[in-house]
Amino acid sequence: MCGIVGYVGPQAAVEVVGEGLRRLEYRGYDSAGVALVAKGGVVTEKRAGKLANLTEAISQRSDINDQHTGIGHTRWATHGVPNDRNAHPHVSSNGRVAIIHNGIIENFTRLRAELEADGVELASDTDSECVAHLLERQLDTGGDLADAMRRVCNRLQGAFTLLAVHADAPDTVVGARRNSPLVAGVADGEYFLASDVAAFISHTRSAVELGQDQVVTISPDGLAITDFDGNPAAGKHFEVDWDASAAEKDGHDFFMFKEIAEQPKAVADTLRGRFAGTGEISLDEIRMSDQDFRDIDKVIIVACGTSYHAGMVAKYAIEHWNRLAVEVELASEFRYRDPILDRSTLVIAISQSGETMDTLMAVRHAKEQKARVLAISNTVGSTIPREADAVLYTRAGIEVAVASTKAFLTQLVACYLVGLHLAGVRGIKFADEVAAIVTELAATPDKIATVLSGMQPVRDLAAAMPNADRALFVGRHVGYPVAMEGALKLKELAYMHAEGFAAGELKHGPISLIEDGTPVIVVVPSPRGRSVLHDKVVSNIQEVKARGATVIAIAESGDDIISAHADHTVFLPVVPTLLAPLLTAVPMQVFAAELATAKGLDVDQPRNLAKSVTVE
Ligand code: F6R
Repeated sequence: MCGIVGYVGPQAAVEVVGEGLRRLEYRGYDSAGVALVAKGGVVTEKRAGKLANLTEAISQRSDINDQHTGIGHTRWATHGVPNDRNAHPHVSSNGRVAIIHNGIIENFTRLRAELEADGVELASDTDSECVAHLLERQLDTGGDLADAMRRVCNRLQGAFTLLAVHADAPDTVVGARRNSPLVAGVADGEYFLASDVAAFISHTRSAVELGQDQVVTISPDGLAITDFDGNPAAGKHFEVDWDASAAEKDGHDFFMFKEIAEQPKAVADTLRGRFAGTGEISLDEIRMSDQDFRDIDKVIIVACGTSYHAGMVAKYAIEHWNRLAVEVELASEFRYRDPILDRSTLVIAISQSGETMDTLMAVRHAKEQKARVLAISNTVGSTIPREADAVLYTRAGIEVAVASTKAFLTQLVACYLVGLHLAGVRGIKFADEVAAIVTELAATPDKIATVLSGMQPVRDLAAAMPNADRALFVGRHVGYPVAMEGALKLKELAYMHAEGFAAGELKHGPISLIEDGTPVIVVVPSPRGRSVLHDKVVSNIQEVKARGATVIAIAESGDDIISAHADHTVFLPVVPTLLAPLLTAVPMQVFAAELATAKGLDVDQPRNLAKSVTVE
């Protein structure tokens, strides 16, 4: 979702800001723009579509070149269609203030009406443009850009990261944040502001996390932070522990292929050092005592999209290991149904980005109801972990492709660890029982590597069906959420109609979708697990085969019964039933990515999608 970059320093701002926007492309966008400021005033350029359109437009301009202060934006449309007019920056009526915005200003209708009543002509359909005009008005009443920003922010409702420049302050960028991400980068004599550190990682790893409701000013003299009332405030300094090369493709055509290949390492990194051998796992930050964990009588998992599917798998593991009721809920639905929760409820919020607005709002609702919140996130210092009572960070490294892969597997690992931690602390499992499962978990990175090395048949299958118009995914038990994840991957990457079902539900409706040749991907439970599950899936395969489906089965190595029924079988290494999603998800990812490639689509940045969804 929208990417934001600001720069002051000795370099050409258009270059630094342009590079930052390129590094933020993965967040998803449909237009882009820059504003540069120098003594002569503010100049802007903006274009709908990809960054290449903006770069081309800038190359035609003789007045955008050596300014040393600038802001840049990639927009993911919320208010107003994606076109040049609605792209950011937006400029005030006198042309002296330019702003960029990420988020939604909820009271913009009222603000817009007020401005229009005062004779202001708005040039776009966006909620954001109001801020440029409001800043101009505040500047007219006195004070500098930061003063104006504070006064304007106090009038805004909703979520926003804002950056502004002003013709009268050619060495300054002012930023502000509420419920939306903003981080500062500090280098020698130059300063950066951005939605995330990827934007300035090639310049500095020294970063400052901005708090909620803070205004920040960067100039060659330094960085100053206040709250919205002007009281001095401090940001939290941290060093970024990855570098620019981690954000490159490493020889792969798309980041997604690189990220799929990185999964054994991501899983191993997430497990590393987490298990003390006493049945306890080390959470990264805990503001909860062991007694708090013992007092829990219900778990509710909230998340969106792929993270929600990780939560669905977690339900099976946590309930089985703890005999504790677990609900899983889409974060976007959670607070609107008045859920029943109190101080003995543990809410687990899963979010790769740590910034998903739906999940953040669910966390806030849970905290208002006095529930304990544990965050599982891949982004250190992001908002959801900061607001949670306890945090377990996944260590997937930066995930650039919009479709989540390695983050998903590491979320599964984190969920397993949390389930085992609860079982240990609550005395439901002995330390040696926990250790036995952890040993199995520790063996999964090698098994995932084995899965990856056997993916050629999956690639061939995908490459052979670019013209398929639909696919069904089915599974039982933990295979059911994996089927849903497989369908989501195919939908988002290959723009195909794909649905994931519990295999038992097929005959209650979806089976009517099956025609001759319809691909049905079946996640088969281990025949060594509860044999009734395996037998039932065999029946389900027969049901769809009888109606003409082409069955691709994902089964455990040695499962000869399945290969006798399926058209194609992908065999995976043997793994305990509850841990199987760590392997079964991988062929789904490869299948979707290859099919999208065969269709000539942009695997990393599917249409209409954003990596970090910071609006509700
Ligand atoms: C799908 C995907 C999305 C995200 C969802 C939640 O591949 O990536 O469905 O999983 O937007 O994002 P986070 O985990 O950042 O809260």
